[in-house]
Amino acid sequence: MMIPEASTVVHARAPGKINVFLKVGSLQDDGYHELATAFQAVSLYEDVWAYPADDFSVEFSGSIDTSDLVTDGSNLAIKAARALARKTGFRGGVRLVISKNVPIAGGMGGGSADAAATLLACDALWGTAVSKEELLAIAATLGADVPFAFMGGTAIGTGRGDQLSPALAKGQFHWVLALADFGLSTPGVYAELDRHRDRHAQDIFPAIMQPSVDAHVLQALRAGEPAMLAETLSNDLQAPALHLAPGLARVLELGEENGALAGILSGSGPTVAFLVADTDSALELQVALSALRIHAVRATGPVHGARLIHDA
Ligand code: C5P
Repeated sequence: MMIPEASTVVHARAPGKINVFLKVGSLQDDGYHELATAFQAVSLYEDVWAYPADDFSVEFSGSIDTSDLVTDGSNLAIKAARALARKTGFRGGVRLVISKNVPIAGGMGGGSADAAATLLACDALWGTAVSKEELLAIAATLGADVPFAFMGGTAIGTGRGDQLSPALAKGQFHWVLALADFGLSTPGVYAELDRHRDRHAQDIFPAIMQPSVDAHVLQALRAGEPAMLAETLSNDLQAPALHLAPGLARVLELGEENGALAGILSGSGPTVAFLVADTDSALELQVALSALRIHAVRATGPVHGARLIHDA
């Protein structure tokens, strides 16, 4: 990976995430759904380098094809930098260089991780010394998943998913992620869920009630037992995403036929996350999926949230 040279540069890193449980409640007036989710940060990271500059820009480096990503003011990393500048009264800008490892539009919060790492990097570069609480508050204005990318670890998210409380988790969970060669739009998947609920009005009632995280999920996370967690994986966005991208059903089957304890759509997809028992099973499943021409990567969780990296 090319790391650009500069006399002053700040490097920050933030993780992608898997929602091991995601219950979607009703659509609110602000266009968001109320939800209850359990997040786990996993070891696929976004790296952000921040350089002094008079205005705001972003570019991408690294191996993932980033040609579809916008680099203007609508890029979430630039929005994050501008939000911090506004909040602190900082008058300069920043040149951001981002190396991506989280799948793009994959349901793993890659864009949110860019924003979280950018907040931390700019705060350090500009010397604005904003508190963690304030950075989290700015994060929440940028997107529902940005606070969690900032916080990392294991957490329960309510509200839009941005009201976080840490959850106890023991040990490490092993995942194999099947990456798709297409993206799914998060609003599009939520809209499909709403259409489905409108068509099946009788199913709405339980969803309208305040969603909450199943106690068994918390128990499995606390116990550090993958077999237990596998039993409780659940995602309300999976059915609508499968409706929009029916081929994902076969991916889920293939993972489970090849040794996964369970598979789940990650967030709004299309990445499929397979929970496996240990490192060996992860390797075996990765090899099996690759032989079936499914691009698969391994990750573990939970991992830390956004942090500064001191390059040697
Ligand atoms: O906050 P973020 O930009 O990630 O959300 C993208 C879109 O996903 C929202 O505009 C909304 O359509 C949908 N969403 C939702 N309810 C949530 C989170 C996201 O409807 N809790």
